[in-house]
Amino acid sequence: MEQSVGKPSSLRNFLVRFLLFGVLIIGVRFAYIIAVAGESCNIGDFCFFSLPQTLSLVIAGTGPLAVESVSGGGSLQPELYTSKDWIKGVRFYSSAFQDLIAGGYLSLQSKSLCVETPTGRDVSALREIGVKDAVGIARKGVKPLVKFGRGERIPFGNRTFDFVFSGEDSFLQSAKPADFAAEIDRTLKPGGFAVFHFSNPKDTYSFNSFLDLFHCFRVVKLHGLEGFDSSIPYIREIVLKKECGDGAGKFDFGDSNGKCYVPGYKHDLVKIAEPLISEEPLKPWITLKRNVKNIKYLPSMADISFKNRYLYVDVGARSYGSSIGSWFRKQYPKQNKTFHVYAIEADKTFHQEYALKKGITLVPYAAWVKNETLTFEIHRDPGEHVDVKGRGMGRIRPVQSLGKEEFEGEVEKIQGFDFAEWLKKTVTKNDFVVMKMDVEGTEFDLIPRLFKTGAICLIDEIFLECHYNRWQRCCPGQRSAKYEKTYAQCLQLFNSLRQSGVLVHQWW
Ligand SMILES: *[C@@H]1O[C@H](CO)[C@@H](O)[C@H](O)[C@H]1NC(C)=O
Ligand SMILES: *[C@@H]1O[C@H](CO)[C@@H](O)[C@H](O)[C@H]1NC(C)=O
Ligand SMILES: *[C@@H]1O[C@H](CO)[C@@H](O)[C@H](O)[C@H]1NC(C)=O
Repeated sequence: MEQSVGKPSSLRNFLVRFLLFGVLIIGVRFAYIIAVAGESCNIGDFCFFSLPQTLSLVIAGTGPLAVESVSGGGSLQPELYTSKDWIKGVRFYSSAFQDLIAGGYLSLQSKSLCVETPTGRDVSALREIGVKDAVGIARKGVKPLVKFGRGERIPFGNRTFDFVFSGEDSFLQSAKPADFAAEIDRTLKPGGFAVFHFSNPKDTYSFNSFLDLFHCFRVVKLHGLEGFDSSIPYIREIVLKKECGDGAGKFDFGDSNGKCYVPGYKHDLVKIAEPLISEEPLKPWITLKRNVKNIKYLPSMADISFKNRYLYVDVGARSYGSSIGSWFRKQYPKQNKTFHVYAIEADKTFHQEYALKKGITLVPYAAWVKNETLTFEIHRDPGEHVDVKGRGMGRIRPVQSLGKEEFEGEVEKIQGFDFAEWLKKTVTKNDFVVMKMDVEGTEFDLIPRLFKTGAICLIDEIFLECHYNRWQRCCPGQRSAKYEKTYAQCLQLFNSLRQSGVLVHQWW
């Protein structure tokens, strides 16, 4: 603003400032009253709705001056405080927080934090309704309401706050929701409340994934709010209460026997999955392949947000093009999440190509039920399709259980590892885990072991190829001599998985 010359004009200037300051104070007061009164602006009521508009016109003309008097310095963003968005937001939050006060989740004495709030409308609303000790954090925030910080790294000590608020889907936008949750847990006092706003209703799968991120928190309120405007017509509010001290209940997965519990919301997904093929197919090479079109993928039935990591574990991966490249990366519905891939493949022929692939960890051993050396039989089955490298599929057996003379094909010694234990060490229940398993009959050992150890509960979705004495394509009326199990036994394996709430699909 240009400095004026002469006394009369500076006096005028002062008067203008004084007047505007007064108008602004009145404006803020009105906004407060409206916010406190909520949406009730009926005919007959004294309604202030038209006022902010006039007000913003006046204030917009003076700019920095008006805001200076409000914020008392800091980074000045005059247009922010007078914008429709700001006023609407503050009004919305004031009303939402008043309701939380009425419900006993927030009090005027609560030490309060709003996370990931660039504008600080929620902080402003808290202060306006009388919660004086309120601050916000964001990567880029408007001072002095908002300090520098991130949800995944809250710049305050342990057990600082009584009330933590995460509005406007900020939790959903976090790349590391588990860290975000852990930070809220850390900075909240025991008995404190964490409140979240989401703009889309969440299905039970994602809602439970969200709750799983919080240890020893309980849902105390769950309801819908009318949003700020037409772009966010509906907001789901979740109120959690922290019920215990630091660190307790950190790892509540399974008991000492390794038993685990597949929750009800996963059973619900199994109920709406594609049916299993109950009759043994006469042309399995056609039927099973066609069945892939019927598969109801988990991410097509549920929202997979709120998982910490997204992982694809390919057990018996073979070459990159075999299923990782050709199917998983191209066709699996990923909801725009980046998946890390674990390729478990013992056959050395395939190892080299994985060294060049990004986002893939090769586990160059055979998935087995314990750590031991196995003999790996290389088959060259005439009826079977033979892959590029000229090697068919193998079948593994512990070295001691069979004499060498019983093998017909080439024999190799390989290292087997305890797949279930590996899975428990590698993933957590907060990860989204998709598994494909094609292990030449070893599924009849590996799946029971996954149940026994409780590792089965870590897997969200399984694509399982079950190997049985199927009808041969080459030779009508003949069954494959390669496998002893029958189709009925396979069906039993699939059914046992589904009855336990595990979303398994028949793979070919
Ligand atoms: C704060 O809490 C974290 C996690 O709960 C813990 O690891 C850390 O030691 C605590 N720090 C202090 C100073 O108590
Ligand atoms: C994935 O991203 C694209 C482009 O950014 C977007 O159009 C699409 O809606 C997103 N899909 C999901 C499921 O989020
Ligand atoms: C199996 O091998 C892995 C990797 O070397 C090791 O971490 C694990 O402790 C072993 N498990 C047993 C039971 O020996």
